[in-house]
Amino acid sequence: MAITPTQLLDWKRQQRPIVALTAWDTAIASVLDAAGVEIILVGDSLGMVALGYDTTLPVSLDTMIHHTAAVKRGVQRALVVCDLPFLTYQESPAQAMGSAGRILRETGAQAVKLEGGYPRMVETVVRLTEAGIPVMGHVGLTPQSVHQLGYRQQGQDPATAEKIRQQAIALAEAGVFAIVLEHIPGDLAASITEQLPVPTIGIGAGPHCDGQVLVTADLLGLTVKQPPFAPAYMNLRHTITETVHKFSGEVRQRQFPRLNH
Ligand code: KIV
Repeated sequence: MAITPTQLLDWKRQQRPIVALTAWDTAIASVLDAAGVEIILVGDSLGMVALGYDTTLPVSLDTMIHHTAAVKRGVQRALVVCDLPFLTYQESPAQAMGSAGRILRETGAQAVKLEGGYPRMVETVVRLTEAGIPVMGHVGLTPQSVHQLGYRQQGQDPATAEKIRQQAIALAEAGVFAIVLEHIPGDLAASITEQLPVPTIGIGAGPHCDGQVLVTADLLGLTVKQPPFAPAYMNLRHTITETVHKFSGEVRQRQFPRLNH
């Protein structure tokens, strides 16, 4: 059965951890789905890991729609969430509605994610959820604000920690069904998780969130510059290199194709 935002709320109440990973194409998405991942996020990090940009800022709405539609074609069970890319929602709730509407209509994704918790964003969440569009929030390190925040851990001093907490509370009251907490101290993430009625999904935010998300390229060891909080569970770059060397060797030795090929 397909996973819904309501199911995630039940899992928070039952203290059942939620598993989330990113995907950007059908092949990876279908493997993650079959392996039981509950949220598949088409994150705009695909701009960096799949398209080679230095930041997520150049990613367009059309690009997100293209990749999310591909992901959705590979998924039967997981909840598919698509990032609203930079400057396709920050201008006004009406702009956000247009962008989110296109994503849901053109890709089949069930939800969108947006970054930040300042008052305009809270108003946007109210408008989207009133229109029946499930929204995931994202506070702490928000990569679309890289030129303001860098990629440093956020919430290290009491004032910024309190600001992140207030943003998370305001987003939850506005109606998000879950919130990504990125690169904040573990004790801050733990206390926000305890305080919020909706699930927190951590990345670089310690073990006490309701769920965890990683960029799949980081998990698999495919990323060139691994973030400090995202351990690789395997070295796929090495495995691919060895496999390509084996194939190249066989081609050069005229051992491939064999007769049964
Ligand atoms: O873009 C992305 O992949 C994300 C995750 C890091 C949460 O937002």
